[in-house]
Amino acid sequence: MKTSMTKKRMLLAVLGVAAASLTTLSYGAVDADAAQSLAKKSDCLKCHAIDKDKKATSFKKIAEKWKGKADAQAKLTDTLTKSPKVKLIDGTEEDHKPIATKDANEIKNIIDWILSR
Ligand code: HEC
Repeated sequence: MKTSMTKKRMLLAVLGVAAASLTTLSYGAVDADAAQSLAKKSDCLKCHAIDKDKKATSFKKIAEKWKGKADAQAKLTDTLTKSPKVKLIDGTEEDHKPIATKDANEIKNIIDWILSR
């Protein structure tokens, strides 16, 4: 009886580890803290909220729009680095605010974070 309980526990532990690694794989190991602090530092949250529209579309809607698109990383990197003209929800146009970093890994991380909202 005692041994079988131990085996069961070990099995559960193994399954737990497997599930945890699967989660990490599917979200590509996003560093959410780094993404959020970069968003704050870059004033992104002045216009975008995570799950409701503000002056611009929510990150959730942006994630839905780009879900499954192979060029999402490339296109959104352009948005964040090349200051394209964008239209605010109130209809005014301005150049998109550039991200406050030149580090490609940090940029990729914040895009992965947005896309996994
Ligand atoms: C002055 C307001 C404003 C600020 C600040 C701002 N954005 Fe935007 N952003 C917009 C608008 C407007 C659009 C385009 C229309 C829309 O999606 O609402 C946009 C679009 C985007 C898109 C989607 C582009 C697409 O093609 O779907 C992403 C991703 C994005 N912003 C991320 C960010 C990040 C990250 C920051 C911080 C560096 C940021 N934005 C700062 C207004 C802003």
